Amino acid sequence: MRKNRRNFLFKAVLGAFAAPFLNVISCASRTPENSIDFPIVISTWYAGLNANKEAMRILKNGGNSLDAVEKGVKIAEADAENQYVGIGGKPDRDGYVTLDACIMDWNGNAGSVSFLQDIKHPISVARRVMEKTPHVMLVGEGAHQFALEEGFEKVDLLTKKSQKDWTEWKKTSEYKPIINTENHDTIGQLAIDKKGNISGACTTSGMAFKMHGRVGDSPIIGAGLFVDNEVGGAVATGLGEAVLRTLTSFLVVEFMRDGHSPQKACELAIGRLVKKHSNHKDFQVAIIALDKKGNYGSFAIQKGFEYALAHGDSNELAEAKSAI
Ligand code: GLY
Repeated sequence: MRKNRRNFLFKAVLGAFAAPFLNVISCASRTPENSIDFPIVISTWYAGLNANKEAMRILKNGGNSLDAVEKGVKIAEADAENQYVGIGGKPDRDGYVTLDACIMDWNGNAGSVSFLQDIKHPISVARRVMEKTPHVMLVGEGAHQFALEEGFEKVDLLTKKSQKDWTEWKKTSEYKPIINTENHDTIGQLAIDKKGNISGACTTSGMAFKMHGRVGDSPIIGAGLFVDNEVGGAVATGLGEAVLRTLTSFLVVEFMRDGHSPQKACELAIGRLVKKHSNHKDFQVAIIALDKKGNYGSFAIQKGFEYALAHGDSNELAEAKSAI
């Protein structure tokens, strides 16, 4: 009896001393400096600012994160001046604009389209694949046919500006990744709504002047985008081939599942990609991540990658840290 009482007193005293330290440990993994209240939206590149504005408008009105990310990235898809997403995207080496996109919601549902031509909003077609078919991914002519059946209009996506750039490129026809060109590439967006549910979207016209039929990371679930409502989400931008080889977005989410902050998870995933690519100085890959608590992070191989972060009344660009 006396021994039990001594044990109890010992545990009580130990608990009183240990409690503040335990608090420090649990706060440390939360990186409070990067933690933000819901709703929150994070997007890749400069084009992410307008995409965030639209997504936040929806979230502040009580909309869900899936509607927010779809409508958010549609702003970039519709902008003909942006030569890396939707209408106005740079064509492949044969002069065709081919689009890739995917979307995921908080229930683990996913939809994707790839090598889609003549449709202005691939992200909305990806959402229809998710919601109206038993499949996750449709490609090429099948995706196009599905889009027309769903009422999407056929649109010529090749603008005069992109056609001119293609004509110029044909003079040398040199394949070379273009690092941080005009400060934008794939647009990826992650959002958490007022209920705390996360969704993500990713859309691109892919690498400029790619081979006809080439598909990058952006429509591939786990490469360009991955969301798990128990953990958080991640979206990648940059050279799709490198992201495909290392499934960067899935990897970031798995690192977060293991207890790493979004920032650390992004650094570990880019570190893995760098280790697997001895030529990593020649191209850019960047990643953004958001966890379920509203902590965010971003990391890139090279300097110059910017992400847009929106919360409350703020919507600002920030430059990510980089490996080199
Ligand atoms: N990240 C876009 C692409 O490589 O297609």
